Amino acid sequence: MGILFSAPQYEFNIIREDWLQSVVQIAQNGMFVSGPVVSKFESAFAAYSGVKGAVGVGNGTDALFLALKALGIGPGDEVITVTNTFIATVGAIHQTGARPVLVDCDDSYLIDFEQVKACVTPRTKAVIPVHLYGQLVDLREWLPWAEENEIHIVEDCAQAAGASLNGKAVGSWGIMGCFSFYPDKNLGALGDGGMIVSSSPELLTKLRQLRSHGGEVRYQHDIPGFNSRLDSLQASALHLKLPYLDEWSNKRRTIADWYETYLQDIEDIIIPNGLHSSRHVYHLYVIRVKNGHREALKKHLQKKGVLTAVQYPAPIHLTPAYSFLEYDAGSFPVAEAYASEILSLPVHIGLTEDEVLMIASEIKAFFILNKQ
Ligand SMILES: Cc1ncc(COP(=O)(O)O)c(C=O)c1O
Repeated sequence: MGILFSAPQYEFNIIREDWLQSVVQIAQNGMFVSGPVVSKFESAFAAYSGVKGAVGVGNGTDALFLALKALGIGPGDEVITVTNTFIATVGAIHQTGARPVLVDCDDSYLIDFEQVKACVTPRTKAVIPVHLYGQLVDLREWLPWAEENEIHIVEDCAQAAGASLNGKAVGSWGIMGCFSFYPDKNLGALGDGGMIVSSSPELLTKLRQLRSHGGEVRYQHDIPGFNSRLDSLQASALHLKLPYLDEWSNKRRTIADWYETYLQDIEDIIIPNGLHSSRHVYHLYVIRVKNGHREALKKHLQKKGVLTAVQYPAPIHLTPAYSFLEYDAGSFPVAEAYASEILSLPVHIGLTEDEVLMIASEIKAFFILNKQ
């Protein structure tokens, strides 16, 4: 067998026996959706995130959508985010009826705050910084600016569970933080799942209503709502995994250190500029391949049994889905240039130093062959 790109099975094996027992219990109690298993995990996740509350929902996309709905965002409003993200960030904005306003990323792949400031109009209601690849956007400067301009910060934490800055957890910086528990995430379920965290009691109430047909009490519908709930089987797996999250983040950082050691003298690639603190939890380890060699290197690694990925092949403004936003090619040169160069190397808690060394040796071998 080759080297897997991501491998949630390692994490599953750690909680396997406890989770199987809880599955039986849940099945016997018959509380499959919502109920005490979900609320216990919500409390644990809120405590871990240093916020007042957490609301489990169906997936990370819904978490973003419901967060914006809870703020009353809709047609006529604008929400700023970065073009270098997964499509869901922009999809969630569009689903509310608001207009997604895009900006470029900087050389750490994260949203460029200067461009955010330049895009504000009287219609701007919120900004979604995306903690892409597991890197926390440094929001220290953002907070006073957001308050002064009455703009909400809704964090997209889908790729960054476990990250923090100065001891303050991802998701606790903005008015709300939105998580995905898709299985390959750093805290992953065995199916879909999502969470919104916040310290605003009003928003937490609104979110609990919105996720469940507009009311917290069955058949009492206070506002028009949706159906997006976290189920008990996922909540129990996530609750069992949560105590391991910091250890797993450390392992991911160790893997990044190994990559840095073994890749740093290869001049044909650019390695991440390493936020070597708790700010980076390496959901993905993304290098850039110079001189148009990305596809050939990807194929070479695949032949050697190393699976890699491209996250993402096109910035959002160049996807057919969002061509109606009318951003031309060339609008966001940094993200556009990176899209043709980026390559995500394997990262998962089962990866060994020997495997990283082997991957690095294959990358070196590829460039030696290509120079002959
Ligand atoms: C940055 C980002 N935002 C949002 C999402 C959406 O999460 P989900 O797939 O759980 O809907 C993802 C999932 O991959 C993501 O990577």
